[in-house]
Amino acid sequence: MSEGVSIAVVGSGYVGLVAAACFAEIGHRVVCVDNDEAKVRMLHEGGVPIHEEYLPELLNRHRANRVEFTSDLKAATQGAQAIFIAVGTPQSETGSADLSYVDAVASEIARSIDDYKVIVEKSTVPVYTNEWIRRVLERNGVPQELFDVASNPEFLREGTAVTDFLHPDRIVLGAETERAVTVLRAIYEPLTSGAYYRMHHAVPGARTPDDPPPMLLTTTQAAEIIKHASNAFLATKISFINVVANICEAAGADVQDVARGMGMDSRIGPKFLRAGIGYGGSCFPKDVAAFRHVAEQMNVDFGLLEEVEKINGEQKRRFFQKVRSALWTFRGKKIAALGLAFKGGTDDIRESPALEIVELMLREGALVRAYDPAAAARASEMIPSGPQMQYVDDPYEAAQDADAVVILNDWQEFADLDLERLRAALRYPIVVDGRNLFDPAVMAAQGFTYLSVGRPGANSVAMRARQRVRVLRHTADGCARAKPAKVYLRAAVLDAAFRPRNRGPWHA
Ligand code: UDX
Repeated sequence: MSEGVSIAVVGSGYVGLVAAACFAEIGHRVVCVDNDEAKVRMLHEGGVPIHEEYLPELLNRHRANRVEFTSDLKAATQGAQAIFIAVGTPQSETGSADLSYVDAVASEIARSIDDYKVIVEKSTVPVYTNEWIRRVLERNGVPQELFDVASNPEFLREGTAVTDFLHPDRIVLGAETERAVTVLRAIYEPLTSGAYYRMHHAVPGARTPDDPPPMLLTTTQAAEIIKHASNAFLATKISFINVVANICEAAGADVQDVARGMGMDSRIGPKFLRAGIGYGGSCFPKDVAAFRHVAEQMNVDFGLLEEVEKINGEQKRRFFQKVRSALWTFRGKKIAALGLAFKGGTDDIRESPALEIVELMLREGALVRAYDPAAAARASEMIPSGPQMQYVDDPYEAAQDADAVVILNDWQEFADLDLERLRAALRYPIVVDGRNLFDPAVMAAQGFTYLSVGRPGANSVAMRARQRVRVLRHTADGCARAKPAKVYLRAAVLDAAFRPRNRGPWHA
């Protein structure tokens, strides 16, 4: 591969650190800049602050020879041909993207420029941010011949960000001049030529030397919109399948069959049709709100995205009621919560549906014992341990003497649980699965009361119990010596669902 391009990446978060490591991996010289001196020191000394597959290996492979860490943005700018802005664009109170960090970085870059640079937006930004960065540079007196501002949005999923970077579906570049395009093409050439995939140390993935990723060259505005529109569409797909799941539940159909049938249509595709407790993370909620705000600014009504957000909020509340339907009451009930991160494979708890549901259960007096393979430490900063909340290091310890297990994200470890061992640990064999990790037939055969999202058997126990209550109440009404419905409800549910075990109290 060529000598490589000198690159500065500003921001060493989920996007910036992965981009720095991957740019080095494909042969470039990278300086990663962060204004958090402690973080720079930690990175310099070999620390890896985020949970990403292959990231530690890449940083160890390239630290000191191709990647260095600094808080000196001026020096990094002057030493680079291309400067990627990968700082946070958090959601503001109005739902719009807060671009103050981008503004600050652009101003500091402007004061540092000493020869031609390509400044590249890597962060997810609203359309026309490119224009704003250009203005910041001009206002700081940078001559137009000394810079171009391009857009290169990322499509990285947390947990698989390195693979997503090195084996992308596409590389999107928004640029207005040939010289900017030349620099950006050179940066991605090891991927678009397929050369990287011939390297013996190449990170494994879908791309091959004969099937390299395509590059889409477009305007900066289109590139910025592609990112927001892609995330908003994926979120829409998830909210759509979640509503379909709720219809399936009422109709006695299996949403996984419906999703499979839908996905076989090449125009729909099988991905992102997994029903569950709703989407979370630092991107979808923020980007859906930001894109809706962009539409408002353009006087375009994007009410569809409001519905997407509403459905997503409702899906979490609906799941919480499903847990209640399995337990009847929460106060004093011991609940094993498996999963705290917003999805499996990551330690990120931002906008995590799992944490929202844990908080709802705690508010109703439940005693929660939580386990997550990577996110417990971050979760405990948000929901500290206490009389109602414990964090454990093992799913079976969480389930010990519990009245139910709730599954709140899709770590493979949860799908691989030893069901015999799980049932032996539980006080009552009840599993409420928010990510459809198990087969209802297998769970029934193993003696569990198993509730999931959008599948038969999801509520059949409760439905049978309600049916028995109706019969009992009707009978009782007939002989006019009706016991309170609650007694019948409890009797029917206990009879239909629980096989109580004589276990000691929660705290042995
Ligand atoms: C997302 C986009 O996928 C990525 O392209 C973009 O760059 C950043 O935002 P990420 O948020 O890391 O990536 O995770 P993703 O795997 O997309 O999942 C987002 C949320 O949707 C998670 O809460 C996940 O559990 C949920 N989800 C995903 C579903 O509920 N059903 C699905 O079928 C897929």
